[in-house]
Amino acid sequence: MIRRRASLVLRYLILSDLHSNLHALVAALTAAGGLYDQIVCCGDLVGYGAHPNETVQWATKHLRRIVRGNHDKVAVGIDLPEGYNEVAKASLGWTGRILTAENRRYLEGLPRGPVAHDGFWLMHGSPIDEDLYLVSEGDARGMNRYLPGEINFFGHTHRQGGFAYFGDSLRMLAQTGQGALTHTLQLEPGMQYLINPGSTGQPRDGDARAAFCILDREANQVSFYRTEYDIEGAARSIVDAGLPELLAKRLFLGK
Ligand SMILES: [Fe+2]
Repeated sequence: MIRRRASLVLRYLILSDLHSNLHALVAALTAAGGLYDQIVCCGDLVGYGAHPNETVQWATKHLRRIVRGNHDKVAVGIDLPEGYNEVAKASLGWTGRILTAENRRYLEGLPRGPVAHDGFWLMHGSPIDEDLYLVSEGDARGMNRYLPGEINFFGHTHRQGGFAYFGDSLRMLAQTGQGALTHTLQLEPGMQYLINPGSTGQPRDGDARAAFCILDREANQVSFYRTEYDIEGAARSIVDAGLPELLAKRLFLGK
């Protein structure tokens, strides 16, 4: 009998905050082609953008692990849009109405983070509260005590980078750069990492390009990437769907 060796998964494409932006998703997948073996996601598949059904359908086929985001919860009525601005409320109401029953069920079944996957962890906002924003060093200070493992990925802020902890001391990871590969982080033993791949579908760190990162377990590296995408197309889809124009305009600004 010939035994086939199970292929070893070593490279992971980490996505977050896709926000129904199919144009950005396709560009990110194209740019990451050949760089990964599996795809995982830190949540917020839907909200803001014009292609929630297409994005969820893609997720059902291609994501190996995902945690839910706050927009995923509100779109299917798990949570209320309390505290959301009018634009976000309008997009979530529209998303809730347009989602197919099958896609709604998928979103309803998404787990709360942190969730483990192959020795690393995924969460949406933070390890203690899935809806908490970790933007500054002050926000992230002390969060290491709640991290479930050494390598952790989060989203929610739509800002590429994150934090590295050595005991209780921490430093912010590099934010954006000019090239497609904005930064490579060498993972060191004894450190804890809370890494944000950035938002694929609605960046807010001043760089309008779609964001993602690659975890390479063999090289012990996380590489941060940005890629240009058809922002005009995504913006036109938002306007054509009757969604607030502000959601289209902000894509050009990356804010
Ligand atoms: Fe988000």
